[in-house]
Amino acid sequence: MNEIRRKLDTGTAYGRPHGVTNRALTETGAGTRMGELLRRYWHPVALASDAAAVPKRIRALSEDLVLFRDGAGRPGLVHARCAHRGTTLYHGKVEERGIRCCYHGWLFEVEGRCLDQPCEPGGGLHKDRIRQPWYPVEERYGLVFAYMGPPERQPVLPRWDIMEQLEPGDEIVADDNMMSGDKVIPCSWTHHLDNIPDHYHVPILHGAISGIQFGELLGRMPAITWEHTAKGLNTIARRKLDDGKILLRIDEGILPNIRVIPDPGVSRYGQSESISWLLPVDDTHYMLYAALRKSPGWSRTKTKPGGKLWVEMTEAEHRRHPDDFEAQAGQGPLTLHSDEHLATTDTGVAMLRRMLLQQADAVAEGRDPLGVGFDGEMMTTDAGNFLLEG
Ligand code: FES
Ligand SMILES: [Fe+2]
Repeated sequence: MNEIRRKLDTGTAYGRPHGVTNRALTETGAGTRMGELLRRYWHPVALASDAAAVPKRIRALSEDLVLFRDGAGRPGLVHARCAHRGTTLYHGKVEERGIRCCYHGWLFEVEGRCLDQPCEPGGGLHKDRIRQPWYPVEERYGLVFAYMGPPERQPVLPRWDIMEQLEPGDEIVADDNMMSGDKVIPCSWTHHLDNIPDHYHVPILHGAISGIQFGELLGRMPAITWEHTAKGLNTIARRKLDDGKILLRIDEGILPNIRVIPDPGVSRYGQSESISWLLPVDDTHYMLYAALRKSPGWSRTKTKPGGKLWVEMTEAEHRRHPDDFEAQAGQGPLTLHSDEHLATTDTGVAMLRRMLLQQADAVAEGRDPLGVGFDGEMMTTDAGNFLLEG
Protein backbone atom coordinates (compact mmCIF):
# COMPACT_ATOMS: atom_id res chain seq x y z
CA MET A 1 0.00 0.00 0.00
CA ASN A 2 2.88 2.36 0.72
CA GLU A 3 3.81 2.09 -2.89
CA ILE A 4 0.37 3.38 -3.90
CA ARG A 5 0.67 6.36 -1.54
CA ARG A 6 4.06 7.26 -2.95
CA LYS A 7 3.82 10.20 -5.36
CA LEU A 8 3.79 8.69 -8.82
CA ASP A 9 5.35 10.44 -11.77
CA THR A 10 2.70 9.46 -14.27
CA GLY A 11 2.56 12.71 -16.21
CA THR A 12 -1.16 13.26 -15.58
CA ALA A 13 -2.42 16.84 -15.55
CA TYR A 14 -3.33 16.64 -11.85
CA GLY A 15 -1.54 19.10 -9.58
CA ARG A 16 0.43 20.80 -12.34
CA PRO A 17 1.57 24.36 -11.64
CA HIS A 18 -0.31 27.25 -13.22
CA GLY A 19 1.46 28.42 -16.34
CA VAL A 20 2.55 32.03 -16.55
CA THR A 21 3.11 34.50 -19.38
CA ASN A 22 6.31 36.50 -19.66
CA ARG A 23 4.57 39.86 -19.44
CA ALA A 24 7.80 41.68 -20.20
CA LEU A 25 7.29 40.46 -23.76
CA THR A 26 3.57 40.98 -24.13
CA GLU A 27 2.59 44.19 -22.34
CA THR A 28 1.68 47.04 -24.69
CA GLY A 29 0.47 49.82 -22.40
CA ALA A 30 2.24 53.13 -21.77
CA GLY A 31 4.84 52.81 -19.03
CA THR A 32 5.36 49.08 -19.51
CA ARG A 33 8.71 47.78 -20.67
CA MET A 34 7.53 46.54 -24.08
CA GLY A 35 4.93 49.28 -24.43
CA GLU A 36 7.68 51.91 -24.23
CA LEU A 37 9.76 50.08 -26.85
CA LEU A 38 6.76 49.90 -29.18
CA ARG A 39 6.14 53.62 -28.69
CA ARG A 40 9.50 54.47 -30.23
CA TYR A 41 8.34 53.40 -33.73
CA TRP A 42 5.65 54.46 -36.23
CA HIS A 43 2.76 52.00 -36.51
CA PRO A 44 -0.03 51.74 -39.07
CA VAL A 45 -3.35 52.22 -37.29
CA ALA A 46 -5.76 52.36 -40.24
CA LEU A 47 -6.10 52.36 -43.99
CA ALA A 48 -5.78 55.87 -45.43
CA SER A 49 -9.35 55.46 -46.68
CA ASP A 50 -10.48 54.99 -43.05
CA ALA A 51 -9.49 58.58 -42.25
CA ALA A 52 -12.67 60.29 -43.35
CA ALA A 53 -15.45 62.66 -42.38
CA VAL A 54 -16.97 59.83 -40.33
CA PRO A 55 -14.93 59.29 -37.14
CA LYS A 56 -13.41 55.83 -36.76
CA ARG A 57 -12.62 54.07 -33.50
CA ILE A 58 -8.98 53.06 -33.26
CA ARG A 59 -7.45 50.97 -30.51
CA ALA A 60 -3.67 50.78 -30.59
CA LEU A 61 -1.10 49.93 -27.89
CA SER A 62 -3.96 49.64 -25.36
CA GLU A 63 -5.14 53.22 -26.01
CA ASP A 64 -8.58 54.22 -27.32
CA LEU A 65 -8.35 56.81 -30.07
CA VAL A 66 -10.50 58.40 -32.76
CA LEU A 67 -9.35 58.97 -36.34
CA PHE A 68 -10.91 61.54 -38.65
CA ARG A 69 -10.08 63.73 -41.64
CA ASP A 70 -10.94 67.39 -41.42
CA GLY A 71 -12.45 69.44 -44.23
CA ALA A 72 -8.99 70.50 -45.36
CA GLY A 73 -8.04 66.83 -45.89
CA ARG A 74 -5.75 66.57 -42.85
CA PRO A 75 -5.98 63.27 -40.88
CA GLY A 76 -6.24 63.63 -37.13
CA LEU A 77 -5.77 61.05 -34.38
CA VAL A 78 -6.97 62.11 -30.95
CA HIS A 79 -7.69 60.39 -27.69
CA ALA A 80 -11.25 59.15 -27.59
CA ARG A 81 -12.19 60.85 -24.28
CA CYS A 82 -13.08 64.50 -24.75
CA ALA A 83 -10.92 66.86 -22.70
CA HIS A 84 -14.08 68.55 -21.35
CA ARG A 85 -16.01 65.85 -19.50
CA GLY A 86 -14.89 62.69 -21.17
CA THR A 87 -17.50 61.53 -23.62
CA THR A 88 -16.17 59.82 -26.69
CA LEU A 89 -15.28 61.81 -29.75
CA TYR A 90 -16.42 58.82 -31.80
CA HIS A 91 -19.83 60.52 -31.82
CA GLY A 92 -18.25 63.82 -32.79
CA LYS A 93 -19.05 65.82 -35.89
CA VAL A 94 -16.22 66.38 -38.33
CA GLU A 95 -16.03 69.90 -39.66
CA GLU A 96 -13.76 72.00 -41.84
CA ARG A 97 -11.39 72.81 -38.97
CA GLY A 98 -11.55 69.65 -36.84
CA ILE A 99 -13.86 67.40 -34.82
CA ARG A 100 -16.65 68.79 -32.64
CA CYS A 101 -17.65 66.83 -29.53
CA CYS A 102 -21.27 65.72 -29.54
CA TYR A 103 -21.91 66.65 -25.90
CA HIS A 104 -21.18 70.38 -25.51
CA GLY A 105 -19.68 71.11 -28.89
CA TRP A 106 -16.04 71.77 -28.08
CA LEU A 107 -14.13 71.80 -31.36
CA PHE A 108 -10.63 70.30 -31.63
CA GLU A 109 -8.26 70.57 -34.59
CA VAL A 110 -6.00 67.70 -35.71
CA GLU A 111 -3.29 68.56 -33.18
CA GLY A 112 -5.80 68.79 -30.35
CA ARG A 113 -6.02 72.58 -30.02
CA CYS A 114 -9.44 73.69 -28.84
CA LEU A 115 -10.93 76.17 -31.33
CA ASP A 116 -14.44 76.67 -30.00
CA GLN A 117 -16.48 76.21 -26.81
CA PRO A 118 -19.97 77.30 -27.87
CA CYS A 119 -21.55 77.13 -24.37
CA GLU A 120 -18.84 79.22 -22.73
CA PRO A 121 -18.97 83.02 -22.56
CA GLY A 122 -17.47 84.49 -25.71
CA GLY A 123 -17.09 81.01 -27.29
CA GLY A 124 -14.49 80.12 -24.63
CA LEU A 125 -12.16 82.88 -23.44
CA HIS A 126 -9.71 80.31 -22.06
CA LYS A 127 -10.05 77.67 -24.75
CA ASP A 128 -6.39 77.99 -25.73
CA ARG A 129 -5.49 76.39 -22.38
CA ILE A 130 -7.20 73.17 -23.47
CA ARG A 131 -5.47 70.54 -25.54
CA GLN A 132 -7.15 67.31 -26.54
CA PRO A 133 -4.44 64.60 -26.33
CA TRP A 134 -3.38 63.73 -29.90
CA TYR A 135 -0.71 61.84 -31.83
CA PRO A 136 1.20 62.72 -35.00
CA VAL A 137 0.07 60.81 -38.09
CA GLU A 138 1.44 60.47 -41.61
CA GLU A 139 0.01 58.71 -44.63
CA ARG A 140 2.15 56.39 -46.73
CA TYR A 141 1.56 53.28 -48.88
CA GLY A 142 -2.19 53.68 -48.40
CA LEU A 143 -1.86 53.43 -44.61
CA VAL A 144 -2.12 55.93 -41.76
CA PHE A 145 0.92 55.65 -39.51
CA ALA A 146 0.90 57.04 -35.96
CA TYR A 147 3.77 57.88 -33.64
CA MET A 148 2.69 57.41 -30.02
CA GLY A 149 6.03 57.93 -28.30
CA PRO A 150 7.99 60.80 -26.72
CA PRO A 151 7.91 63.80 -29.11
CA GLU A 152 11.60 64.56 -28.62
CA ARG A 153 12.54 61.09 -29.89
CA GLN A 154 10.19 61.01 -32.88
CA PRO A 155 11.96 59.23 -35.77
CA VAL A 156 11.37 59.81 -39.47
CA LEU A 157 8.62 57.60 -40.88
CA PRO A 158 10.69 55.04 -42.82
CA ARG A 159 10.59 54.52 -46.56
CA TRP A 160 11.15 50.94 -47.73
CA ASP A 161 13.15 49.96 -50.81
CA ILE A 162 10.63 47.43 -52.12
CA MET A 163 7.81 49.97 -51.91
CA GLU A 164 9.80 52.76 -53.57
CA GLN A 165 11.63 51.07 -56.45
CA LEU A 166 8.65 50.23 -58.66
CA GLU A 167 8.54 48.75 -62.15
CA PRO A 168 6.21 50.26 -64.76
CA GLY A 169 2.63 49.22 -63.97
CA ASP A 170 3.35 48.33 -60.34
CA GLU A 171 1.02 49.77 -57.75
CA ILE A 172 1.03 49.81 -53.95
CA VAL A 173 -2.07 48.40 -52.31
CA ALA A 174 -2.79 48.58 -48.59
CA ASP A 175 -4.43 45.70 -46.72
CA ASP A 176 -5.75 45.41 -43.18
CA ASN A 177 -6.83 41.79 -43.27
CA MET A 178 -3.91 39.66 -44.47
CA MET A 179 -4.87 36.79 -42.18
CA SER A 180 -8.12 36.39 -44.11
CA GLY A 181 -10.02 36.09 -40.88
CA ASP A 182 -11.40 38.56 -38.41
CA LYS A 183 -9.49 41.80 -38.74
CA VAL A 184 -8.77 41.83 -35.03
CA ILE A 185 -7.05 38.62 -34.01
CA PRO A 186 -7.82 37.62 -30.40
CA CYS A 187 -4.34 37.01 -29.07
CA SER A 188 -1.07 38.76 -28.30
CA TRP A 189 0.86 40.20 -31.23
CA THR A 190 3.85 38.20 -29.95
CA HIS A 191 2.18 34.98 -31.12
CA HIS A 192 2.64 36.28 -34.64
CA LEU A 193 6.11 37.59 -33.87
CA ASP A 194 7.08 34.04 -32.88
CA ASN A 195 5.57 32.83 -36.16
CA ILE A 196 8.00 34.86 -38.32
CA PRO A 197 11.20 32.84 -37.66
CA ASP A 198 9.14 29.66 -37.17
CA HIS A 199 9.40 28.55 -40.79
CA TYR A 200 9.27 24.89 -39.76
CA HIS A 201 5.54 25.23 -39.24
CA VAL A 202 5.03 25.86 -42.96
CA PRO A 203 5.36 22.28 -44.29
CA ILE A 204 3.37 21.00 -41.29
CA LEU A 205 0.48 23.42 -40.67
CA HIS A 206 0.21 24.68 -44.24
CA GLY A 207 1.02 21.31 -45.83
CA ALA A 208 0.78 17.96 -44.07
CA ILE A 209 -2.05 18.93 -41.69
CA SER A 210 -4.27 21.31 -43.62
CA GLY A 211 -3.43 20.36 -47.19
CA ILE A 212 -1.31 22.57 -49.39
CA GLN A 213 -2.30 26.12 -48.44
CA PHE A 214 0.66 27.76 -50.17
CA GLY A 215 2.62 26.64 -53.21
CA GLU A 216 3.60 22.98 -53.38
CA LEU A 217 7.29 23.87 -52.99
CA LEU A 218 6.81 25.18 -49.45
CA GLY A 219 5.22 21.85 -48.54
CA ARG A 220 8.70 20.31 -48.67
CA MET A 221 10.76 20.16 -45.46
CA PRO A 222 13.54 22.79 -45.55
CA ALA A 223 16.91 23.15 -43.85
CA ILE A 224 16.83 26.39 -41.86
CA THR A 225 19.38 28.76 -40.36
CA TRP A 226 18.88 32.11 -38.64
CA GLU A 227 21.03 35.21 -38.85
CA HIS A 228 20.98 38.42 -36.83
CA THR A 229 20.79 41.54 -38.96
CA ALA A 230 21.14 45.22 -38.13
CA LYS A 231 17.35 45.45 -37.79
CA GLY A 232 16.23 42.03 -36.60
CA LEU A 233 16.47 38.41 -37.66
CA ASN A 234 16.54 36.65 -41.02
CA THR A 235 15.21 33.12 -41.35
CA ILE A 236 16.95 31.37 -44.23
CA ALA A 237 15.30 28.22 -45.57
CA ARG A 238 16.83 26.02 -48.26
CA ARG A 239 14.84 23.41 -50.21
CA LYS A 240 16.28 21.09 -52.82
CA LEU A 241 14.23 21.10 -56.01
CA ASP A 242 13.73 18.15 -58.38
CA ASP A 243 16.16 19.58 -60.93
CA GLY A 244 18.90 19.87 -58.29
CA LYS A 245 18.56 23.62 -57.87
CA ILE A 246 17.99 25.21 -54.47
CA LEU A 247 15.04 27.35 -53.47
CA LEU A 248 16.47 29.86 -51.02
CA ARG A 249 13.81 31.67 -49.06
CA ILE A 250 14.49 34.50 -46.64
CA ASP A 251 11.77 35.57 -44.21
CA GLU A 252 12.71 38.75 -42.42
CA GLY A 253 11.70 39.86 -38.95
CA ILE A 254 12.38 43.54 -38.31
CA LEU A 255 12.11 44.86 -34.77
CA PRO A 256 9.84 45.37 -33.13
CA ASN A 257 6.86 44.17 -35.17
CA ILE A 258 7.51 44.07 -38.91
CA ARG A 259 7.56 41.00 -41.10
CA VAL A 260 8.76 40.87 -44.67
CA ILE A 261 7.53 37.56 -46.01
CA PRO A 262 7.89 36.70 -49.69
CA ASP A 263 5.06 35.22 -51.73
CA PRO A 264 4.19 31.86 -50.16
CA GLY A 265 3.06 30.65 -53.57
CA VAL A 266 6.61 31.14 -54.94
CA SER A 267 5.04 32.17 -58.23
CA ARG A 268 8.15 34.17 -59.11
CA TYR A 269 11.66 34.72 -57.82
CA GLY A 270 13.13 37.89 -56.41
CA GLN A 271 12.61 40.23 -53.48
CA SER A 272 9.46 40.13 -51.39
CA GLU A 273 6.59 42.24 -52.65
CA SER A 274 5.00 43.02 -49.30
CA ILE A 275 5.71 44.41 -45.85
CA SER A 276 3.42 43.72 -42.92
CA TRP A 277 3.13 45.34 -39.54
CA LEU A 278 1.70 43.56 -36.50
CA LEU A 279 -0.24 46.28 -34.74
CA PRO A 280 -0.65 45.48 -31.04
CA VAL A 281 -4.24 46.56 -30.44
CA ASP A 282 -3.75 45.74 -26.76
CA ASP A 283 -2.11 42.92 -24.82
CA THR A 284 -4.48 40.27 -26.13
CA HIS A 285 -5.46 41.47 -29.62
CA TYR A 286 -3.56 42.44 -32.73
CA MET A 287 -4.12 43.40 -36.35
CA LEU A 288 -2.01 42.79 -39.41
CA TYR A 289 -1.55 45.74 -41.77
CA ALA A 290 0.29 45.32 -45.03
CA ALA A 291 1.55 47.23 -48.03
CA LEU A 292 1.68 45.07 -51.17
CA ARG A 293 3.44 45.92 -54.40
CA LYS A 294 1.19 44.55 -57.12
CA SER A 295 2.56 43.97 -60.60
CA PRO A 296 0.22 43.69 -63.57
CA GLY A 297 -1.34 40.22 -63.72
CA TRP A 298 0.13 38.97 -60.44
CA SER A 299 -1.49 38.30 -57.09
CA ARG A 300 -0.29 36.59 -53.95
CA THR A 301 -1.22 32.92 -53.70
CA LYS A 302 -3.06 31.34 -50.84
CA THR A 303 -5.60 28.58 -51.13
CA LYS A 304 -8.47 27.58 -48.88
CA PRO A 305 -10.62 24.47 -49.19
CA GLY A 306 -12.97 24.75 -52.13
CA GLY A 307 -11.52 28.15 -53.01
CA LYS A 308 -13.52 29.69 -50.14
CA LEU A 309 -12.62 32.81 -48.23
CA TRP A 310 -11.73 32.32 -44.58
CA VAL A 311 -15.00 33.85 -43.46
CA GLU A 312 -16.97 31.50 -45.73
CA MET A 313 -15.51 28.34 -44.21
CA THR A 314 -17.68 26.25 -41.89
CA GLU A 315 -16.63 25.44 -38.33
CA ALA A 316 -15.84 21.89 -39.47
CA GLU A 317 -13.62 23.24 -42.24
CA HIS A 318 -11.81 25.52 -39.82
CA ARG A 319 -11.21 22.57 -37.52
CA ARG A 320 -10.02 20.35 -40.32
CA HIS A 321 -7.96 22.99 -42.20
CA PRO A 322 -6.41 25.24 -39.55
CA ASP A 323 -4.30 28.20 -40.69
CA ASP A 324 -2.13 30.76 -38.89
CA PHE A 325 -5.24 32.34 -37.35
CA GLU A 326 -6.32 29.10 -35.71
CA ALA A 327 -2.78 28.17 -34.64
CA GLN A 328 -1.99 31.55 -33.06
CA ALA A 329 -5.38 32.25 -31.48
CA GLY A 330 -5.26 28.62 -30.34
CA GLN A 331 -2.34 29.51 -28.03
CA GLY A 332 -4.86 31.52 -26.02
CA PRO A 333 -5.03 35.29 -25.53
CA LEU A 334 -1.56 35.18 -23.91
CA THR A 335 0.59 32.13 -24.37
CA LEU A 336 2.01 30.51 -21.22
CA HIS A 337 5.74 30.79 -21.68
CA SER A 338 6.46 28.74 -18.56
CA ASP A 339 4.67 25.74 -20.09
CA GLU A 340 6.60 25.78 -23.37
CA HIS A 341 9.20 23.23 -24.36
CA LEU A 342 11.28 25.09 -26.91
CA ALA A 343 13.15 22.69 -29.17
CA THR A 344 15.94 22.88 -31.75
CA THR A 345 13.59 24.19 -34.40
CA ASP A 346 12.54 27.07 -32.13
CA THR A 347 16.03 28.57 -32.15
CA GLY A 348 14.84 31.55 -34.22
CA VAL A 349 11.90 32.13 -31.88
CA ALA A 350 14.25 32.33 -28.89
CA MET A 351 16.67 34.60 -30.80
CA LEU A 352 13.99 37.09 -31.83
CA ARG A 353 12.42 37.22 -28.36
CA ARG A 354 15.85 37.86 -26.84
CA MET A 355 16.55 40.68 -29.29
CA LEU A 356 13.22 42.28 -28.50
CA LEU A 357 13.85 42.18 -24.76
CA GLN A 358 17.33 43.63 -25.27
CA GLN A 359 15.85 46.55 -27.20
CA ALA A 360 13.30 47.12 -24.44
CA ASP A 361 16.27 47.30 -22.06
CA ALA A 362 18.00 49.79 -24.35
CA VAL A 363 14.98 52.10 -24.23
CA ALA A 364 14.69 51.73 -20.46
CA GLU A 365 18.36 52.75 -20.22
CA GLY A 366 17.76 55.88 -22.29
CA ARG A 367 19.10 54.70 -25.66
CA ASP A 368 17.39 54.65 -29.04
CA PRO A 369 16.35 51.15 -30.13
CA LEU A 370 17.43 49.36 -33.32
CA GLY A 371 16.01 50.55 -36.59
CA VAL A 372 14.79 54.03 -35.66
CA GLY A 373 16.21 56.65 -38.00
CA PHE A 374 16.27 60.41 -37.75
CA ASP A 375 17.74 61.26 -41.16
CA GLY A 376 15.26 59.69 -43.61
CA GLU A 377 17.61 56.98 -44.84
CA MET A 378 15.92 54.33 -47.04
CA MET A 379 15.24 51.03 -45.26
CA THR A 380 16.47 48.01 -47.18
CA THR A 381 15.10 44.48 -47.03
CA ASP A 382 16.62 41.06 -47.64
CA ALA A 383 13.49 38.90 -47.88
CA GLY A 384 12.64 37.02 -51.03
CA ASN A 385 12.45 33.71 -52.89
CA PHE A 386 15.66 33.09 -54.78
CA LEU A 387 16.73 30.26 -57.11
CA LEU A 388 20.29 29.00 -56.69
CA GLU A 389 22.23 26.55 -58.80
CA GLY A 390 22.60 23.32 -56.82
S1 FES B 1 -17.77 66.28 -23.01
FE1 FES B 1 -17.00 66.98 -24.91
S2 FES B 1 -17.69 69.02 -25.05
FE2 FES B 1 -18.40 68.35 -23.13
FE1 LIG C 1 1.99 30.32 -41.32
